[in-house]
Amino acid sequence: MSSLLKLSPKLGWLAQDDIRPFVLARNECRVTDPGQLFSLDWFVNDFFYMDPLVIEDVYFANALLNMEHKAFASNDMPMPRWVFYDCAIMPGFVAGFAQRTERLAPSIRKILGEENLLGEWTPISMFITIPTMKSHEWMAHNLSSVNALIPKEDRFYGLGFLSKAFGLSYANIEWCCGVTQWTSPAMRLHTYYGFFEVLTAYTPAHTHATSLTYRLKVNPAEWSRFFTKEASKEFDQRFKPAGFEVDPEDEKSLIAFHKKISHKEGPFYLDAKEIREKKLHEKLTIYNLKG
Ligand SMILES: CC(C)(COP(=O)(O)OP(=O)(O)OC[C@H]1O[C@@H](n2cnc3c(N)ncnc32)[C@H](O)[C@@H]1OP(=O)(O)O)[C@@H](O)C(=O)NCCC(=O)NCCS
Repeated sequence: MSSLLKLSPKLGWLAQDDIRPFVLARNECRVTDPGQLFSLDWFVNDFFYMDPLVIEDVYFANALLNMEHKAFASNDMPMPRWVFYDCAIMPGFVAGFAQRTERLAPSIRKILGEENLLGEWTPISMFITIPTMKSHEWMAHNLSSVNALIPKEDRFYGLGFLSKAFGLSYANIEWCCGVTQWTSPAMRLHTYYGFFEVLTAYTPAHTHATSLTYRLKVNPAEWSRFFTKEASKEFDQRFKPAGFEVDPEDEKSLIAFHKKISHKEGPFYLDAKEIREKKLHEKLTIYNLKG
């Protein structure tokens, strides 16, 4: 039995025979040795491939964009179709989970729209990642899940978190960067994949200047803490409070923090457990390395 299923009774959906991980990637972008770096036993059901360049599979890419547009509608950042193609499909890949269309819950059918349920499988989550020019480093470009759109009783606990975990594991990703908004619920997920360094606390080159850029060394030994909610011994051994906090809702606080990063006073890190336990707008402790 997968060690993951023992962590929470809410993870039973992972073993359902109508739900499988998928990878949407053109042939040349497929990984030759998927899942070799981390050897996790978490993903019980085999993944399947979809090819966005094959006409028969385009229904799946359309269904991904439909789900993504609905998930991002409230924060006004749906991905343009050409960005999906030029910046995700061609250089990278999309990973996630899909359910057999005939088995989707009525709430999912309703939110996705019957007219968009056209194939055998319907994607219910997606994680897009793109290799960067830096060796072994990838950019986490998009994370979304149908959970954001449906009533609590129909959700698949951990769907967003496990979609990114599956993608990182599939492509043996060692270093992961990304961009998110300080008060986004996604902060509670992104910070668990490895010790989370803040590269920009204020990001005027982005559409939303109050976004942060992060980088982490992918560390699957930490991932189960997302479900157990235990403190990380390794984090406590390696990091200490840097002596200041950041206020995610105060632009001046973000700029002041960003100046410290620019003046090379870091590197600075955030604590995943603290973020999980606090409300999304509360001040956060900034950490740096011990010793
Ligand atoms: C953010 C998102 C990907 C999370 O995926 P998910 O499948 O809902 O989340 P998971 O089931 O994997 O994880 C659940 C945990 O996420 C956090 N979470 C999810 N939605 C949340 C919300 N609306 N408010 C606060 N915390 C939330 C919680 O910590 C929750 O666990 P807990 O209740 O035990 O603390 C999803 O909500 C989404 O698609 N949002 C819209 C698009 C978006 O903003 N993407 C992020 C871009 S950086």
